[in-house]
Amino acid sequence: MKVFVTGGAGYIGSHTLVQLLAAGHDVCVFDNYCNSSPVALARVRQLTNRDVAMVEGDIRDADALTAALVDFAPDAVIHFAGLKAVGESNEKPLLYYQTNVTGSTNLLAAMDAANCRRIVFSSSATVYGEAQYLPFDEEHPIGPTNPYGRTKAMVEGIISDWARATPDASAVLLRYFNPVGAHESGRIGEDPQGIPNNLMPFVAQVAVGRRAKLSIFGDDYDTRDGTGERDYIHVVDLADAHLAALDYTGRAMGCEAINVGTGQGVTVSELVVAYRRASGRPIPLEIVPRRPGDVARSYAATAKAEKLLHWRAALDVDAMCASSWRWQSDNPQGYPMAGEV
Ligand code: NAD
Ligand code: UFG
Repeated sequence: MKVFVTGGAGYIGSHTLVQLLAAGHDVCVFDNYCNSSPVALARVRQLTNRDVAMVEGDIRDADALTAALVDFAPDAVIHFAGLKAVGESNEKPLLYYQTNVTGSTNLLAAMDAANCRRIVFSSSATVYGEAQYLPFDEEHPIGPTNPYGRTKAMVEGIISDWARATPDASAVLLRYFNPVGAHESGRIGEDPQGIPNNLMPFVAQVAVGRRAKLSIFGDDYDTRDGTGERDYIHVVDLADAHLAALDYTGRAMGCEAINVGTGQGVTVSELVVAYRRASGRPIPLEIVPRRPGDVARSYAATAKAEKLLHWRAALDVDAMCASSWRWQSDNPQGYPMAGEV
C-alpha cells in the first residue's frame, strides 16, 4: 500500500516508518523538520534497507501539501505532523491552531483532491481532561484544558465530520497515552529540543549526565506513592497500533476514536526505579511543588483497541526504559548534524 506520512521524521513517525517499510508498504514523508532531523530518516533507511520518499514542506502551505499528495497518490494517510508542547500552546495559541487545525483541514482538502479516503490521526489522551472516572474509555466526555488539547479535540471533530460527508471514508483517531522508549537498535529515539517537558526524556538526560537531577512535580497526589500515575506506552507498540489502524481503515467505513495505552498506571517514582535498573545510573532527584494542570492519574481502557484493531500492547516498563537508555547512551546529544548518519 502507498502511505503518505505527515510528520514522519518525528519521534513517533520515524518508529512507525520502520514498521511500515518492514511490512512492505511504500511511504512518502511530508515534514518541515521544525522539530526533527533528516538524520532520523537516513537512519530509518539504514535500518530497513528501504527508500523513503521525502517532501520538505509545511502542512500550513495548502498548495504544496496538495501537490505532494496528488503526486504520490496514496491509498492512505497517517497524520503525525503538528506541535505538541502544552506550555508553548498557552503562549502561542494561534501558532497551535494554525498548525494543528488549519494544517489538518488543508490535509483533508488535499486528500479530497487526491481521491484518498483513509486516514489515521495522532490524537491524544489529553482530549479527556479531568477524569470523571478511570480508566478513560472512549465514551468518557471530552474536556481538554489547554490550547494544545483543544486543537486535538477540534481536529477529531473535523475528521469525523469529513468522514460523515465523504463516501467510503474511513478514519481512525488514535488517542495516545504517554509514548516513551525507542527502537531496540538505539538508532532512532526521542530527541527533544531544549529542556524536555516530559518525564522520560528528562530522566534519560539525567541518567546520561546532561542534567543534574530530576524534579518530581509533587508527592502528595492520591496515588500509591503520592507521585503522578500515567499509562506509558512503548513507541514500538504504538507504531504497531498504526499498522493495525491502517488495516482497520481498509475494512470499515466511518470514524472511530480509539485509545492506545497499556491499561496500566505507573507512578513517577516507579518509573525512576525502573530507569535506574535499566541504566545502572543513580538518577538524583528532588521533590518540588506540583506542576499546574497536572492530574493525579491517567490510564486507558484498552478493550476498544483489542476489539476493533486486534491490537494490544506487548512491551513493559522495563523494555521502555532499556530501549530509551540504549538510544540515550548511544546518542547523548541526540541526532548528529544533518549530513552525518
Ligand atoms: P514530533 O515533534 O517528534 O513529530 C512531529 C513532526 O511533525 C516533526 O517531525 C515536525 O517537524 C513535524 N511538523 C510539525 N509542524 C509541521 C508543519 N507545520 N508542517 C510539516 N511538518 C510539521 O512529535 P511526536 O511525539 O512524534 O508526535 C507526533 C504526533 O503525535 C503529534 O501530532 C502529537 O501531537 C501527537 N501526540 C504525541 C504525544 C507524545 O507524547 N509524544 C502524545 C499524544 C499525541
Ligand atoms: N513529571 C515530573 N517531572 C518532570 C516531568 C514530568 O515529575 O520533569 C511528572 C508529571 O507531573 C506527571 C508525569 O511525570 O505526573 C508525566 O508527565 P509528562 O509531562 O511526561 O506527561 P503528561 O501526562 O503530563 O502529558 C503527556 C504529553 C501530553 C499528552 C499527554 C497524554 O505531554 O502532550 O501525555 O497523552 F497529551
